[in-house]
Amino acid sequence: MINLDRRELFASLGGLAAVALMSHDARADALEHYMEDKLHAQADGDDEGGGSAGEFPSAAQVKDQITTRHYRRGAGGLFISTDPAGKMKMLPDMPAKPTLVDFFETRFGQFSNHCLQSANKARERGQPDEIVLACLLHDTVQSLMRVDHGYYGAQMYEPYVPEITSWAIRYHQPLRFFADEAAGYTYPDLYRRMYGYDYVPAPHVQAAHEMTKKHKWYYAAREVTVSDLYAFDPNAKVSLDSFRDLIAKHFKQPAEGLGYDNSPSAHMWRSLMFPDSPL
Ligand SMILES: [Fe+2]
Ligand SMILES: [Fe+2]
Repeated sequence: MINLDRRELFASLGGLAAVALMSHDARADALEHYMEDKLHAQADGDDEGGGSAGEFPSAAQVKDQITTRHYRRGAGGLFISTDPAGKMKMLPDMPAKPTLVDFFETRFGQFSNHCLQSANKARERGQPDEIVLACLLHDTVQSLMRVDHGYYGAQMYEPYVPEITSWAIRYHQPLRFFADEAAGYTYPDLYRRMYGYDYVPAPHVQAAHEMTKKHKWYYAAREVTVSDLYAFDPNAKVSLDSFRDLIAKHFKQPAEGLGYDNSPSAHMWRSLMFPDSPL
């Protein structure tokens, strides 16, 4: 059951004065988002063992939480119920020839809004289309698989996007663990809560960081992490409409529909399409 913390809710909306200026609809919307976020945080385990703001669990405490859950944290969002009653929701059927937009609208769930905000920030920061596209897609695969999502995401998008775009999607994942103050990226408190304040990234993650630092496209993956930092505003609403042109220009939509084009990642799109298939 989710508890409503009025003080926390008001603070997240900019304080009482800001709430007083909101329309009734905007308030109802904000409340809905707040409750949704709480549900997702619970599904992520982010509410557990973290204590109050400024207090973080140790990596050992995070590990101890594993046996308190009925799911694995690495499982894709589509496969975990965020319903307080623990039941799954019916998903809309997909069209015969699904497009990227169809997946945004019916399968990417809570990751859709986060990615739209991230892409919007990248655009406001004057980033080129290929990097805005990377931001737009960077976490969407978390509907399918959360663990190693940068690598899964890059693999899923590789047949359809410019090479630099999938490269940035892949390496934003390891780069999230390493601050780059000059680029505007500070290590996020979210990670202290999710992994533990004393967590040390695995050797292969450190090696990926070292490799990317020397790579000519480092700035692209780094930008995904920088735009990511600002992309958790529960009040921000960014429409997919403002990215339709970008998608049309840079995303190679297969004529057969995603999932039916025999690409190396077609099965990943089908898995998102039919997550209730038993095998
Ligand atoms: Fe990510
Ligand atoms: Fe993200």
